[in-house]
Amino acid sequence: MSVARRTTILVADDDRSHRLMLTTMIQDWGYAVMEASDGGQALDIIRSKPVDMILMDMRMPNMDGIEATRAITSYNPSIAIVIVTAYSSIPTAVEAVRAGAFDYVTKPMDFEALRVLMQRALEHTRLREENERLRGQLARLQVPELTGTSPAMRKLLEMIALVAPTDTTVLVTGESGTGKGLIARAIHANSPRAQKPLVEVNCAAIPATLIESELFGHEKGAFTGADRQRKGRFTTADSGTIFLDEIGELPLAMQAKLLRAIQEGQVQRVGSDCVVPVDVRVIAATNRDIEKMMHEGLFREDLYYRLNVFALSAPPLRERVEDIPALAQGFLAGFSKKSGKVVKGLTPHAMDLLLKYAWPGNVRELENAMERAAILVQGDYVSRAQLPLALQVLEEELDAVLPDHGLEQSVSTDANLAAIEKQAIFNKLRQTGGNKSEAARRLGITRRTLKLKLKKYDLDTEPD
Ligand SMILES: Nc1ncnc2c1ncn2[C@@H]1O[C@H](COP(=O)(O)OP(=O)(O)OP(=O)(O)O)[C@@H](O)[C@H]1O
Ligand SMILES: [Mg+2]
Repeated sequence: MSVARRTTILVADDDRSHRLMLTTMIQDWGYAVMEASDGGQALDIIRSKPVDMILMDMRMPNMDGIEATRAITSYNPSIAIVIVTAYSSIPTAVEAVRAGAFDYVTKPMDFEALRVLMQRALEHTRLREENERLRGQLARLQVPELTGTSPAMRKLLEMIALVAPTDTTVLVTGESGTGKGLIARAIHANSPRAQKPLVEVNCAAIPATLIESELFGHEKGAFTGADRQRKGRFTTADSGTIFLDEIGELPLAMQAKLLRAIQEGQVQRVGSDCVVPVDVRVIAATNRDIEKMMHEGLFREDLYYRLNVFALSAPPLRERVEDIPALAQGFLAGFSKKSGKVVKGLTPHAMDLLLKYAWPGNVRELENAMERAAILVQGDYVSRAQLPLALQVLEEELDAVLPDHGLEQSVSTDANLAAIEKQAIFNKLRQTGGNKSEAARRLGITRRTLKLKLKKYDLDTEPD
């Protein structure tokens, strides 16, 4: 049986009574504690025992805090170091932070602040390790096309890595243009079926009357115009993957037939009496609210659950603003190469607009904007004038509420006001990394009011 190791804090301080005081308090907080009376001893301990965090005094004999910080971070950078220092030596503490310490606290200590800082330091380390782990996983994933390192994107890539090697049916949901097609391709490419066909069927593009024969094939003479036998897409995808895009558009009658084919692993050609076994992995995608469709009787419940064995949702671009620069640069490089131009990038001003815009059309909209920009651009950099009007207008709306322009002259309608308010909220949330309390504070409203507004503007994505 394995017992979870308790988080261990090493207290390095040459002042015995101070050390004792810290030790007692930290033990009270539920951590395991070890002690060292100088930097050298601290170094010895971390070399022999697992330590999560060090609370380190700045001035110690033999090896002082800075020197110890350097030695410890180069030995094991995942140990969080919090420096304890007197006011008089803050500059040295800052130097220690530059050398790799997480942060510093000043003596005399505010214990509650120390406790919060320690939690933050530990959380930071945990996240960093998590990132390293994910990076390792991603290196093994082959999805060169899926750009993005935001937390939302990493989470998604992690899920893809988990589900790809299996035969599990996957339902990919997400707004239009979020990359559902790419996700399906990434799953196939990272599956044992990668060398076998990936057959894509856009359910919205095939007339209802033809979809059955399209999916399952037909016999010669099965219907008017069927002048020869035809293989269906399921058969073409045999031993590979079938990607049923826009599954929400599938007529109810077809849903029943599809369910049967998936459940039984066999298909029946239109006009044929016999069934043919197929070995196909199914990935489906939709931008419709399929659960709602199910409740409204527009989508079969049994098929929904059959498809939704593993659900993946593609995050909208506005929820991963961090990815915008890399995506924009990537698209721009691709399109300018095609048109034989050398475009170095975007002006800071133009990039700023990309970051502020809410991208209702998601990555596809960004891609189109960059394609257009690559055509219009004259010099080395894409500037504001080469961006779509929606982005240029956005800036005027924001400008209009800046105090020095005066409020009266600018805002004409309620709709305008709402748009500006929504954008302001969106910006603050982005600036604060999604911290609602802080965003509310900066907006000068209560957290409760912010929550109500988030609901109103449909920006509220997480449950309470
Ligand atoms: N993470 C990404 N990195 C790079 N390109 C992306 C990414 N996500 C989407 N794209 C690009 O954006 C465009 C739209 O993606 P895709 O067609 O997969 O979206 P979708 O979710 O299937 O949209 P729809 O619901 O409208 O079919 C594609 O050209 C795709 O290559
Ligand atoms: Mg698509």
